Amino acid sequence: MTTVKRTQANGDTPAAVRVRGVYKGFGEGQTRIPVLKGVDLDVALGEILLLAGPSGSGKTTLLSVIAGILDSDGGTLNVLGSSIPELSPDAKTRFRKQNLGFIFQQYNLLPPLTAAENAAVPLIIRGLPRSQAIARATEVLHEVGLGDRIDFLPAKLSGGQQQRIAIARALVGEPRLILCDEPTANLDGESGRKAMELLRRIGNRPDRAMIVVTHDSRIFEFADRIAHMEDGRIEHVKQNHGRDHS
Ligand SMILES: Nc1ncnc2c1ncn2[C@@H]1O[C@H](COP(=O)(O)OP(=O)(O)OP(=O)(O)O)[C@@H](O)[C@H]1O
Ligand SMILES: [Mg+2]
Repeated sequence: MTTVKRTQANGDTPAAVRVRGVYKGFGEGQTRIPVLKGVDLDVALGEILLLAGPSGSGKTTLLSVIAGILDSDGGTLNVLGSSIPELSPDAKTRFRKQNLGFIFQQYNLLPPLTAAENAAVPLIIRGLPRSQAIARATEVLHEVGLGDRIDFLPAKLSGGQQQRIAIARALVGEPRLILCDEPTANLDGESGRKAMELLRRIGNRPDRAMIVVTHDSRIFEFADRIAHMEDGRIEHVKQNHGRDHS
């Protein structure tokens, strides 16, 4: 059965990300290696899009270009209404702070900071007073089931718990786009599913989009659509019919 979901990236739903003909290479002159070779991709607000594909196909590079961390060589790239290539370096940084949340394979927590302090980092970077940032981070840690671990250092927590702090940190600033790169790669199957279930349950909102790069077919069921990347291009994007009836 073909059902049109509100989350489908079509003309009816506002685009969070619109990528057209994006190119990116690394290196100089003769030795320059093309990595993104004309990427087209749409992600709608309200949608979780999974990005799968072989190692080296350009998934992380694409996320970095969408985030404005790497500059593309050509093509158009609109994220939440802003044309990223046209922003100055400072404006890109401000845009990221204000609008984006990140979750990585390595949780990238700061070892000397407690769970609450780690989760509060995006708000502190935005200039929120520390006490307010910690209070808001504590709320989100409760939402991710770590209310009894707010004063723990990362080293005293399991991998799954550390990733839940990273999820709290990604959500704390209410970003409109969340970019995840292999978020479950360091977790066992059960912890990985729990992390994605959590992200879907508390992170998925009509005014927010998520792109999740993954090799982990066990978490495909949490996607609204699955995009397959091959050799620097999006080969196809499939609706995840498993979710149509949910
Ligand atoms: N900073 C860089 N300098 C030079 N080459 C790079 C750089 N970053 C990535 N590459 C190259 O670009 C290609 C794509 O890398 P990328 O990290 O985007 O792949 P990926 O799809 O994320 O792979 P994986 O699934 O292994 O994480 C690889 O061949 C890689 O060697
Ligand atoms: Mg990668």
